[in-house]
Amino acid sequence: ETPEFLAAFQARIDADEKIEPKDPMPAAYRKTLIRQIGQHAHSEIVGMLPEGNWITRAPTLRRKAALLAKVQDEGGHGLYLYSAAETLGISRDQMTEELLSGKAKYSSIFNYPTLTWADIGAIGWLVDGAAIMNQVPLCRCSYGPYARAMIRVCKEESFHQRQGYEIMLTLSRGSDEQKEMAQDALNRWWWPSLMMFGPSDGDSQHSDQSTRWKIKRFTNDALRQKFVDATVPQGEKLGLTFPDPDLKWNDDKGGYDFGEIDWDEFWRVVKGQGRMNVDRIAARRKAWEDGAWVREAAMAHVEKRKTQMAA
Ligand code: ACO
Repeated sequence: ETPEFLAAFQARIDADEKIEPKDPMPAAYRKTLIRQIGQHAHSEIVGMLPEGNWITRAPTLRRKAALLAKVQDEGGHGLYLYSAAETLGISRDQMTEELLSGKAKYSSIFNYPTLTWADIGAIGWLVDGAAIMNQVPLCRCSYGPYARAMIRVCKEESFHQRQGYEIMLTLSRGSDEQKEMAQDALNRWWWPSLMMFGPSDGDSQHSDQSTRWKIKRFTNDALRQKFVDATVPQGEKLGLTFPDPDLKWNDDKGGYDFGEIDWDEFWRVVKGQGRMNVDRIAARRKAWEDGAWVREAAMAHVEKRKTQMAA
């Protein structure tokens, strides 16, 4: 890759041109996208597990239908994203192997357990709320297939966020016990949701380069701050208390100050030692193995069609 090639590529990025699959691109740009889109796809797929856990126990038929639709959407997002990554020259089988072997990461958030129905509310409100904050800017990312996939994904995520907030609203206006459930879910999901945005800017190894390539449009800390500012008033409307004594409005910066994230916990979870990491991967491995016959049957069908066409 000559300096001229790299400069010409950067000029296209600077001019806000979209990069498409067959366009020449630096190897490192391709690698970064495969890493990020792959991780994102895995997050959607693993993200089906904590909520799937509650489909059979949803309190009403309406809640069950909404939760089923949401979990199904997440499966769809995963498939879009795997397809977007495939345009960069990696296969879905390879990405799956990397997930199952522990080489590829997925979002830390999905390594926490869903203990009560209120967790489904908190996940929709907070986790999907954080996902939207992070993903709306990705609709303007420089890589065409990723940017376009994000448009539909974000629309569906807003429905997810609202269904979660509505669960929290219902619980927080309910009996004392329901209010307590909502508060307990907020207590357990608040900090892990803030961790979703990734390490602080000083520790974020990919941010500078990804920002120059317009893959990232905001830094991890900037998005985290936007999320806190948008979410705190929503929590106050619910009459709930955030589990952070340092959370307070700061007039000078026009945003909330908040306490320090437990980064040891973050890295432990990212490195595989969260409460649910082993279970999540075991569930994905089982799904992959149980689905082997479907993949084999699909391939056999393609082969048969080919022979029929040739005859
Ligand atoms: N969970 C797990 N790993 C993380 C997390 C997290 N919350 N945040 C950062 N990391 C990892 C990065 O993947 C990177 O590891 P790697 O080099 O082995 O790939 C490392 O920590 C350092 O972080 P950064 O340099 O800040 O990494 P990056 O620039 O990729 O930023 C971010 C991380 C913000 C998550 C980015 O990849 C992104 O925007 N991804 C797309 C959105 C996404 O994946 N969302 C998933 C959850 S939302 C959902 O599925 C509903």
